[in-house]
Amino acid sequence: MPPPVYLDYNGTTPLDSRVIAAMMPYLSVEFGNPSSAHWYGIKPKQALIKARGQVADLIGCRPDEIIFTSGGTESNNHAIKGIALSRRDRGNHIITSRIEHPAVLEVCRSLENSGFQITRISPDRYGRIDVDEIERVIRPETILITIMHANNEVGTIQPVFEIARLARKKGIAMHSDAAQSIGKIPVRVDDLGVDLLSIAGHKFYAPKGIGALYIRSGVSLSRLIHGAGQEGGKRAGTENVLEIVGLGEAAAIASRDLEENARQMRSMRDLLLSCLRRRLPEIRVNGNLECCLPNTLHVSFPGVEPGPLLERIGLDVAASPGAACHSDSASISHVLAAMRIPPDLARCSVRFSTGRMTTKEDILKASEIIADAVMQTPHAPSAGRH
Ligand SMILES: Cc1ncc(COP(=O)(O)O)c(C=O)c1O
Repeated sequence: MPPPVYLDYNGTTPLDSRVIAAMMPYLSVEFGNPSSAHWYGIKPKQALIKARGQVADLIGCRPDEIIFTSGGTESNNHAIKGIALSRRDRGNHIITSRIEHPAVLEVCRSLENSGFQITRISPDRYGRIDVDEIERVIRPETILITIMHANNEVGTIQPVFEIARLARKKGIAMHSDAAQSIGKIPVRVDDLGVDLLSIAGHKFYAPKGIGALYIRSGVSLSRLIHGAGQEGGKRAGTENVLEIVGLGEAAAIASRDLEENARQMRSMRDLLLSCLRRRLPEIRVNGNLECCLPNTLHVSFPGVEPGPLLERIGLDVAASPGAACHSDSASISHVLAAMRIPPDLARCSVRFSTGRMTTKEDILKASEIIADAVMQTPHAPSAGRH
């Protein structure tokens, strides 16, 4: 039996074969410690330099403004806690949104428990944050604004540039979690105007457990991990050379092929929507496709329970009820709740996300399977199914 059609690229991506090829030597012969002064340290050290340059090129910064981390979660922790602790004497107020990933929300919650004040902005019904609302809640003691670049569930792209401009005018640090936008839309730190930006490798065909944090030159952060002097003294621990090489290669591919990949992901996403709409005209798109990641389609199937639906399609199509990172949770997604999607629609929603490996055949097959499953899944009587 063929494996299910994979439509959960926002959850994670497979490794690109070119990424695997670049990593191979570091899995065997090039095992040296990049900090070693002897022969075995030379190639690993050069590999770190190359990868740092590749990630820097992707987001338009200097290589020394990049530190490698264990992924999006660590990058967010480092950025937010790092600013909170280093600017404690200037203020204790942080602004974020209600639709951030838990890797931001939970960091803010933990800071709140230790005396910081957090303002959480609600989005509009499409999941967009209003810049004027941010301006209204800025206080003299605000030290950080952290707003994600694109939402992982509904794909909404946020007005990060406008928010960052505001932050800059007031001398507030601006962080953005770009885990979902890298490789799908242009992400350039100067175009966004951010001071800090989080990157997660496994969302763009690099391995899991590797990421990066951009720290604008001149912005000082408290350390998250103490130890030896790796990463310019900003993040201790022997570097994960193998995966850093993979991240670098994935970054080079993402920047080279961005437009083509985005076009392909968008056309597969749009094809999925039109096929589903043809069979299931009652479906509702959550978010706004006008300002959405090109690969993300979040839909509600009125009256249909997502659990039984995904179980029915599970052998043939892999998709996610809400965010894949916390799909065990039975409660309505915090993102849809913040967007004030009515609970009966929020409960029956599914996120489909295409990737650069998604083919037209995948979409035609998946849409038929999904439509058949929706027709066969028990509906609430008022759902008006076709
Ligand atoms: C928006 C966003 N931020 C952060 C993360 C966490 O990244 P990682 O899995 O690399 O820790 C994710 C993962 O789903 C995400 O979607």
